[in-house]
Amino acid sequence: MEPTISFFGLGYVGLTTATCLSSKGFKAICYDIDKQKVNTINQGKPPFYEPNLSKLLLKATKTGLLTATTNPTDAVLNSTITFITVGTPSNPDNTIDLTQIENAAKTTGKALQQKTTHHTIIVKSTVLPTTTQNIIKPTIEKTSGKRTPKDFGLCVNPEFLREGNAVQDTLNPDRIIIGETDKESGDTLESLYQNFYSKMPPIIRTTPVNAELIKYANNAFLSTKITFANSIANLCQKLPGADITTITKAIGLDKRIGPLFLNAGLGWGGSCFPKDLKALSVFAKKMGTPLPLIDATLLINHYQPLRAIQLTEALLGKLKGKKVAVLGLSFKPDTDDIREAVSIRIINELLAKGARITAYDPAAMHNAKRIWNNKIELSTNAYKCIQGADCSIIVTEWKEFAGLEPEDFTARMRNPIVIDGRRVFDPNKFSEKLTYVAIGLGTERIDPLEQPDEYGWLNPALSVNAIIQEKNRILLVKRKNTPFKNQWSLPGGYVEYGETVENALKREIKEECGLYIDSLNLLEVYSSPERHPSKHVVTLCYSANTSGGKLSKVDEVSSARFFRINEIPETLAFDHTQMINDFFHTKK
Ligand code: UGA
Repeated sequence: MEPTISFFGLGYVGLTTATCLSSKGFKAICYDIDKQKVNTINQGKPPFYEPNLSKLLLKATKTGLLTATTNPTDAVLNSTITFITVGTPSNPDNTIDLTQIENAAKTTGKALQQKTTHHTIIVKSTVLPTTTQNIIKPTIEKTSGKRTPKDFGLCVNPEFLREGNAVQDTLNPDRIIIGETDKESGDTLESLYQNFYSKMPPIIRTTPVNAELIKYANNAFLSTKITFANSIANLCQKLPGADITTITKAIGLDKRIGPLFLNAGLGWGGSCFPKDLKALSVFAKKMGTPLPLIDATLLINHYQPLRAIQLTEALLGKLKGKKVAVLGLSFKPDTDDIREAVSIRIINELLAKGARITAYDPAAMHNAKRIWNNKIELSTNAYKCIQGADCSIIVTEWKEFAGLEPEDFTARMRNPIVIDGRRVFDPNKFSEKLTYVAIGLGTERIDPLEQPDEYGWLNPALSVNAIIQEKNRILLVKRKNTPFKNQWSLPGGYVEYGETVENALKREIKEECGLYIDSLNLLEVYSSPERHPSKHVVTLCYSANTSGGKLSKVDEVSSARFFRINEIPETLAFDHTQMINDFFHTKK
């Protein structure tokens, strides 16, 4: 007889795994604290959109193989294996929020108190290396009063399901990873999968810490692979005749590279990649081994959606009052999920520039309404969305958009301009009939204005700025590099790896303006969300005493100067004005 399995947490991972197991005759008891979700599931309806799930779930509930409950004790007592499938969202500081994991561990532990037989607990949620051994295991042991491996088994079993493809990915995984705290629990999980799959996928049995890191490394590699394609796509755009689709097709044929996850676009989003990469970055820094490659991936991806804005501005000029149609809002096709979708960045940026937005998505309209409410116009279909628009941007590559013809746009738009952010249209066909620009397609027609942005400063190391005060004057430096040429800003630079912040500041200031710094007092850490949105670059605000005070070594006299507080130039090369104001405010 197949074992009965309980699931803690009914998001798309928990519910899809439970439903797929039930489809092959396993009994699943699904627990969640959300009563409404539990009721919906018991009616055979998934509480979210996931292709192919409804039919399987309806069948599983009808046959009684899958039931949902709000009673965790029943779920544990009536099963022999529990999968923990709760969410691990990000905290504001990008660390992961383990509240749901800790609650699930406590609830399971409490239920285990009453259990007289051995039980196996499987951590499927994405957790950072060591979490299972250092947090989950002791929590269960403490609340249950039992010990692993004697009374219960514990494994880490990461999932690699893609939203929108979760059923397929569950039924046909590339491999199974089992991170076991003891052999018996590994055997239990392996035998479950042996019974589930008619053809067993490759299996790797390993330590919990390896299993935890495999999941992060997997997501980090995939998102970096996409970012690589996006970076080359950006270069293509400057080269008439270049086309990223041909380039990725060609490099994808190299077996060492492979064709998947090379589709260029306006950046990646969703509930997994962004949070996992940020958590990995913070974790690695805490471990004393920063991962600059991951930080660069995050930073490049942060700016990628803004390419849509640059292109729109290059084609339309000032956006105030212009009507922009956004096609596709979900973070990818075949899902209604809008979490961390690039559409959010794009629409908010367009709104900030005064554009009027009409938007349409085949599945995510209810979520869009929640975010923007009346701030944007939500259309019921693509045709209505582009009606009267000055520019249309394809943000998500839903299949139905590929069916649109150039004439659909020319007949409806005020200004037939299409920005194809996901390469859904045939460039030849579209270019003949309207103004067509696309991510990764070289074109002579437009040249987006160079904008000072973090690309020029792409350095995953820490950035520091110092406020150097002398009486009621502060030191500013004139920039020599484009695009900030001849603009004033605070002195500062980057901390090299292995260098202390104090030394970096002294070094940079000496190099920049020939000034020797005696002592530095950390005043406060300052981080501008606008300029440093992904927080890899933090500005530290220092007050410093100068020694000698002579700007003797500067090559141009004008390149560094003390300014009286009331004479500070209104526009600085960087957004330092607020920082300077804060500094004097704090001093008072
Ligand atoms: C991702 C991983 O692919 C799963 O293996 C993993 O289990 C899951 O995260 C998770 O950690 O739970 P998911 O976020 O559902 O899955 O979606 P993906 O299909 O990976 O797409 C993520 C983002 O990358 C989307 O915004 C998508 O549009 C973008 N993408 C993907 C591209 O821009 N280009 C590509 O070639 C592929």
